[in-house]
Amino acid sequence: MTEKKDYFAHKADIYEENAKRVSNVQNIADGILKKLVYSKDMHILDFGSGTGLLTQEIAPYVGNITALDMSTSMNKVLSAKKNDFPCELEVIEVDITKENHSEKFQNLDGIISSMTIHHVEDIEDLFIKFYNMLNENGTIGLADLETENGSFHTDDTGVYHFGFDKEEFLEIAKKVGFKELNIETISIASKPHGDFPIFLLTGKK
Ligand SMILES: C[S@@+](CC[C@H](N)C(=O)[O-])C[C@H]1O[C@@H](n2cnc3c(N)ncnc32)[C@H](O)[C@@H]1O
Repeated sequence: MTEKKDYFAHKADIYEENAKRVSNVQNIADGILKKLVYSKDMHILDFGSGTGLLTQEIAPYVGNITALDMSTSMNKVLSAKKNDFPCELEVIEVDITKENHSEKFQNLDGIISSMTIHHVEDIEDLFIKFYNMLNENGTIGLADLETENGSFHTDDTGVYHFGFDKEEFLEIAKKVGFKELNIETISIASKPHGDFPIFLLTGKK
């Protein structure tokens, strides 16, 4: 059996104390809400939901959110806020790369994600999984770091990509079958040692 690692165990409880992190995710949510149309009959999946910073911004606009994250400690912080959510919320602890979810996650109207995909090694495989989980015309709203020099994280454990080239990222989504794709810089994550642009990729199945 493979040992299960919780890379966020040491920061889950203080994760939301970083005001710049919170405002970065608010910019991402604003971008998603400008580009994609949601309604209260929709079921959305937030991949790598963490403590729910993005989940809670999208919650007022949809009926149901599945928050998927492999970190016990991050899920615990989100689950503690569950009763305050203006939509149905299910928090599920899985590593999306390790298990077969084709039956568990089906007929989704949308998939959102913030600052998580650089933790996944095989992006094409991830996009195929997303594609198979979505309804026809289901949408994606995926935000993450643009190419950086490796200084964004102080500890690179669990980091597979130093950000992404926007065009290459879009091309992988196109290859998998997503359409009406658009990618643009949506926010800047500011750290004392530099500014890190964040992109938002939107599209539909
Ligand atoms: C940097 S945090 C972002 C959290 C949140 N989306 C936000 O923007 O504040 C990345 C999250 O992705 C989760 N994660 C990374 N790889 C994952 C995987 N393969 N399956 C599920 N969750 C994953 C981590 O546990 C962590 O909570």
